[in-house]
Amino acid sequence: MQEIKITTILTCYDHINELPQQTQKLMEHAVEARKNAYAPYSNFRVGAALLLANGEVVTGNNQENAAYPSGLCAERVAIFHAGAKYPGVQIKQIAITATSDLHVNKTPIPPCGACRQSIAEYEMRQDEAIEIYFMGGEGKIMKSNSLKDLLPLVFDKTYL
Ligand code: THU
Repeated sequence: MQEIKITTILTCYDHINELPQQTQKLMEHAVEARKNAYAPYSNFRVGAALLLANGEVVTGNNQENAAYPSGLCAERVAIFHAGAKYPGVQIKQIAITATSDLHVNKTPIPPCGACRQSIAEYEMRQDEAIEIYFMGGEGKIMKSNSLKDLLPLVFDKTYL
């Protein structure tokens, strides 16, 4: 018998102003995208902004549906849009912000498991790490240097 320890290192920023300038702008794009979320059922708005290697910024927000599972998270709206519009262009960074309409969330809110799995596919496909920054509605921001830090023991094509 053997125990395996998995370590994750995250960086924590106290405020958006502490981010590198380009990343600060990316988070501002995510905040703008969040405002256009279609979230009449959860009242929980999420915005995501991707910085691509060609300098383009692609955004997404959650799109809900009366048949609940038919909706989609902000992160996947954004990465699928990037994959559709800029195939083969690397994703460098993802900025995510999420908050309820009923109260402002002030702790960093990480992407859900399904979004992590989807981001993992893109990271493996481009064979280069994607930096992920996540925030609540405002306040502290957490950063992982790679999706792998958020989803150890990922399921991938090597198992197929
Ligand atoms: N949501 C996202 O957009 N991203 C996540 O990573 C977690 C959840 C959305 C889905 C749904 O519209 C609402 O937030 C509440 O779960």
